[in-house]
Amino acid sequence: MNNVIIDARDVTYRYENALTDAVSRLSLKVYEGEFVAVLGRNGCGKSTLAKLMNALLLPTSGTIEVDGKVAQNEDDCYDVRRSCGMVFQNPDNQIVTTIVEEDCAFGLENLGVEPALIRKRVDEALSEVGMADHAHASPSMLSGGQKQRIAVAGVLAMRPKIIVFDESTAMLDPIGRRDVFALAKRLNREEGITIVWITHFMEEAVQADRLVVMDQGRIALEDTPHQVFSQMEKVLSLGLDVPEMMKLAARLRASGVKLKKGIMTVDEMAVELCRSR
Ligand SMILES: Nc1ncnc2c1ncn2[C@@H]1O[C@H](COP(=O)(O)OP(=O)(O)OP(=O)(O)O)[C@@H](O)[C@H]1O
Ligand SMILES: [Mg+2]
Repeated sequence: MNNVIIDARDVTYRYENALTDAVSRLSLKVYEGEFVAVLGRNGCGKSTLAKLMNALLLPTSGTIEVDGKVAQNEDDCYDVRRSCGMVFQNPDNQIVTTIVEEDCAFGLENLGVEPALIRKRVDEALSEVGMADHAHASPSMLSGGQKQRIAVAGVLAMRPKIIVFDESTAMLDPIGRRDVFALAKRLNREEGITIVWITHFMEEAVQADRLVVMDQGRIALEDTPHQVFSQMEKVLSLGLDVPEMMKLAARLRASGVKLKKGIMTVDEMAVELCRSR
């Protein structure tokens, strides 16, 4: 088993003037190199948890250790943010300058990194996300998916060990969505970056190593996608949808096609259909 890279211990967070906790006595370990998807109905606390991981919020009680660091005050937050980058839902809210490469350099400039190193890191990050040709473009001319890739490049330039994506594909068209998800998968597989992927799309969730399903600020289920989606009633009661391939498998079975249990991804369906011909 790999090292624990995020260790949330009994974490509670309550917004000012709120009557209930947004995150309530939550404990969760994320392991180095994992791809974890966080799911749950609107308002269950996913974004709050993401912000606690990134030290944008500090727990009301409990502790959250990120890459060996615990942010206890504003100063420590920078250390945590350097280890744990974050990509948000709306690409437009993450763009701060009018030229792509300047945007990617923004975080490093804030850290006071020397210009030659910034140049190198930004060039590398833009190639990593497939946007090197757009280095001098204006972000406003790019598609949503391209803007999200620029946001990822800005995070990558900081060399984080973890990236939290908070519904980063929710506002994209299907092509942009697929591109950004594939980018996160590749960074996980090839660069070993730990990914926390918050989503409402079950077809993304089924491709994660592990699912964390939240309900009312707590963890309701935590297991592999196959284990989670084998508990259909529970899954539906937690406000989740059924993965498309599971729906298709059910319809195919109803019309007489023999398929094995637990088909959740397009790849699994393709293999099974070829086998059953
Ligand atoms: N700034 C805030 N001030 C007060 N309450 C807040 C604030 N932000 C979120 N909340 C409340 O905290 C709870 C958790 O919200 P959060 O945004 O973490 O949920 P979420 O799971 O990300 O929801 P969604 O799926 O809609 O993005 C909700 O009840 C929400 O209304
Ligand atoms: Mg949210």
